[in-house]
Amino acid sequence: MVVAYKDYERVGQEFRELFIQYGGLKPGMSMLDIGCGTGRMAVPLTEYLSGHGAYWGFDSGKKRVQWCRDHIGAKFANFHFEHSDVYSKYYNPAGKLQPGDYTFPYENEKFDFVILISVFTHMLPEAMLHYMKEITRVLKPGGRLFATYSILKDDQFRIIGAGKNALDFRYPIQTGFTIDANDPESSIAYQEDYLKQIFGQHKLEIVHHLRQGDWSHKTNFLSRQDILVAEKASPIRKVK
Ligand SMILES: C[S@@+](CC[C@H](N)C(=O)[O-])C[C@H]1O[C@@H](n2cnc3c(N)ncnc32)[C@H](O)[C@@H]1O
Repeated sequence: MVVAYKDYERVGQEFRELFIQYGGLKPGMSMLDIGCGTGRMAVPLTEYLSGHGAYWGFDSGKKRVQWCRDHIGAKFANFHFEHSDVYSKYYNPAGKLQPGDYTFPYENEKFDFVILISVFTHMLPEAMLHYMKEITRVLKPGGRLFATYSILKDDQFRIIGAGKNALDFRYPIQTGFTIDANDPESSIAYQEDYLKQIFGQHKLEIVHHLRQGDWSHKTNFLSRQDILVAEKASPIRKVK
């Protein structure tokens, strides 16, 4: 399906509203967009983040990052883009680093808000786990993660078995499921309980599990994929 540019813009604007409504994004926050692509999320955010706020994005696609630098970073001093030379079957097949070994180029607890839109849905489970660890490291206590996934609830397996799902996640891989055993990165899903478990392990409390995406044939959807919003635990203050 060819997505018209207008749709591309509209999706970015819709996500910006979800970041504000469910993610608690504020104009003065510092945020990170992992797998920022060609700025679909960054462009509408230029109209929202104030001079006190700042956006960082990184992506394994070099040309994508260059486009963002030329068209967004050049105009907005508080928007920064980094190329990460991380292997990705589709986006950076010559990448020197494996995603499971990649340390994000940011200090601990730098960000109030971290987003991944349509990234974990193409990342193998081991890499996804490592990114979760890095996300927890760079989030401030009380900061939030807003990420899209394809999430398999119990009823999904029945629907998949009947061949009725838009995406047919019938092949198990490690801790997830894929639509194509020969090309697992094409689309990856996780069971809800597994995601709850790994969020818990990373001290990330799920504060919103938004309605399932339209991939699952639900009609009451907010986006193509499912959305989880989680908050990093704050240390309990000791009372003297
Ligand atoms: C489906 S696109 C989504 C782009 C953007 N988030 C959006 O919503 O328009 C996936 C993006 O993730 C990037 N990517 C894939 N694997 C990555 C990794 N391990 N680290 C950083 N970026 C990655 C790709 O280069 C690509 O730009």
